[in-house]
Amino acid sequence: ASITLIGVPFEGGAGRGGCAMGPAALRLSGIAETLADLGHTVVDQGDLVLDAASEFESTAAAKELPRVAGMTRVLSEATYAAAAKGTLPVMLGGDHSLSMGSVSGMARYAASVKRPLFVLWLDAHADFNTPTSSPSGNMHGMPVAFFCGLDGFPQILPAERDLVMPKNVFQIGIRSVDTNERDLIGKHGVQVFDMRAIDENGIAAIVRQVLRAVVESDGLLHVSLDVDFLDPEVAPGVGTTVPGGATFREAHLIMEMLHDSGVVASLDIVELNPFLDDRGKSARVMTELTASLFGRRILDRQTQPA
Ligand code: ARG
Ligand code: MN
Ligand code: MN
Ligand code: MN
Repeated sequence: ASITLIGVPFEGGAGRGGCAMGPAALRLSGIAETLADLGHTVVDQGDLVLDAASEFESTAAAKELPRVAGMTRVLSEATYAAAAKGTLPVMLGGDHSLSMGSVSGMARYAASVKRPLFVLWLDAHADFNTPTSSPSGNMHGMPVAFFCGLDGFPQILPAERDLVMPKNVFQIGIRSVDTNERDLIGKHGVQVFDMRAIDENGIAAIVRQVLRAVVESDGLLHVSLDVDFLDPEVAPGVGTTVPGGATFREAHLIMEMLHDSGVVASLDIVELNPFLDDRGKSARVMTELTASLFGRRILDRQTQPA
């Protein structure tokens, strides 16, 4: 494939600093070279230049709103442009508020080619808060609610923007949900597979179910990978660790199955905080997972049982 790397050195949506260094750490771990070695055409367009949208005001309910809004506008354009020219955008984050922009850009692209957009959200958190429901006001806990068009947000993107249907959002790995957020998930019908679902069914059955839904409706799939999806022992370099996360093997299996499906149209790599990492360990894991998503495999499949 032809891949566009988009650096998003943004941490305004997180409760603490460090994610702005994420793109640099991902580059240092060799993400561009790794993808090129797999045979892909890789263009690293560098880091976005981000500016605050000064018509907004930061409030306790939506902290750093001017910066989040400015980033969202720039990234939604960049993501749309990369997809529209036939490449697969890969966002090097940056905190998870960046998905307000990347997914909005992909929703616009999917609408332009008349295909439904699906989102696979790999995360310890549902990130389905709104400024009204959020206990923290940190906007990295709100991107899914934003791109699904829930009430309670100021108008950051044009009113006629393309949205994602909550039933087309599949979340895996969820193990930390706030009280109001839980009600919103139920009300809007986001499809959540929590850690218990993984334990009871196994990751492969869940991923097959998600991919079947995408393929049956000829959809495009955006994958959003939060570092804290993984167990903190696998990936400690993140500000919002929650114990009991996905294992190294579960995560790689998901990526391999996603590759085989051929429906992935875009990817976010988010919440990497190099300041909290252990000698680049988490950056390396994210690069290795990205390699699995883009076709690295242990053996050719014909040697495997059917
Ligand atoms: N649910 C919590 C909140 O809204 C935590 C969100 C964490 N999100 C993340 N992308 N790390 O504040
Ligand atoms: Mn997240
Ligand atoms: Mn998270
Ligand atoms: Mn439209």
